[in-house]
Amino acid sequence: MLADVIVDLQYGDCGKGKIANYLCSQNDYTHVIRYNGGCNAGHTIYHNGKKLITHHIPCGVLHGIKSVIGPGCVLNLNQFFDEIEMLEEAGVKTEGLIKIASNVHIITDFHMAEDKKDTEIGTTKRGNGPAYRDKYARKGMIALEIPDLEEYIIDMYDEIHNNKEFDDVQILFEGAQGFGLDIDWGDYPFVTSSHCTVGGAILNGVPPQAIRDVWGVAKIYETYVGAKDFEGIDPEFDLIRDIGEEYGATTGRPRQINWMDVDLLEKAAKINGVTKMVINKVDVLDQIETWKLFHGVDMLQFENAGSMYDYIESHLGEARPGINVLFSGNKEII
Ligand code: IMP
Ligand code: MG
Repeated sequence: MLADVIVDLQYGDCGKGKIANYLCSQNDYTHVIRYNGGCNAGHTIYHNGKKLITHHIPCGVLHGIKSVIGPGCVLNLNQFFDEIEMLEEAGVKTEGLIKIASNVHIITDFHMAEDKKDTEIGTTKRGNGPAYRDKYARKGMIALEIPDLEEYIIDMYDEIHNNKEFDDVQILFEGAQGFGLDIDWGDYPFVTSSHCTVGGAILNGVPPQAIRDVWGVAKIYETYVGAKDFEGIDPEFDLIRDIGEEYGATTGRPRQINWMDVDLLEKAAKINGVTKMVINKVDVLDQIETWKLFHGVDMLQFENAGSMYDYIESHLGEARPGINVLFSGNKEII
């Protein structure tokens, strides 16, 4: 068995979907597995010139790869069936490719109604927190109990450890949200309710020895959506929001902007054991011709993109020797 894992090193929305699509096109994965979160996540994918937004279903299905909603996830039934319909209408063949682990927890209408009342955290109001709360209180409902889901249900152990369909199981784990929103490592209580690190992927049933690469995805600046004060004071941030189209894929809310925090990247890279890092949207800073970041309490400004990249690369290279850092523009494949 072999597994590659994609993790977001900041606050979500760093372009995991783009990396997932790239890796699907380069490898012979047998499965793409979503390992955490619910329909709070929004993945924007372009397929045959059409813009598709999925919340539950991993991108593997676009490549004809079995796509699994893993046991670390929570699921909204209406959203799930709507997404299948949307994909089919866009010409994506989904039959037999979409699977749900039997013990995925269900987001109920009650969970949604409760989450709608949130004013403290700034949640996506999709019922995630209440669904995970009931999971851990041991009073949740699981996918196996829902007759409508029967054709999609798999036993995760059999699927990845006793699978006769494939000679060798090769998995791409596609995470949701990011390190700064992780229930254990994020800025509590301004976090989501699931595990967004590589640990969260392993919880879905894969032995740690199976992991080949951990792809850490970040952006050249930071964004965050939620109730805490995050945005710094800089006239450039409005420009970044507009040029970078920094509005939530799930809720349409404007994302708060700040300069990259190198310490956060280092911490996230170490804790996740990142081997390959992609820093996305570098073209946005090129367009405003401003290259700044935070390192500790210092804000550093660079003359050009190259010197900013050198700084980031040498710092992360010292923190995690052998790490490979790629800088990528918004429309670049990688
Ligand atoms: P929840 O996950 O809906 O409970 O929201 C908790 C926090 O995580 C809020 O600040 C949300 O805006 C944020 N969040 C949840 N999912 C995403 C995502 O996919 N991208 C970015 N932020 C997210
Ligand atoms: Mg997203």
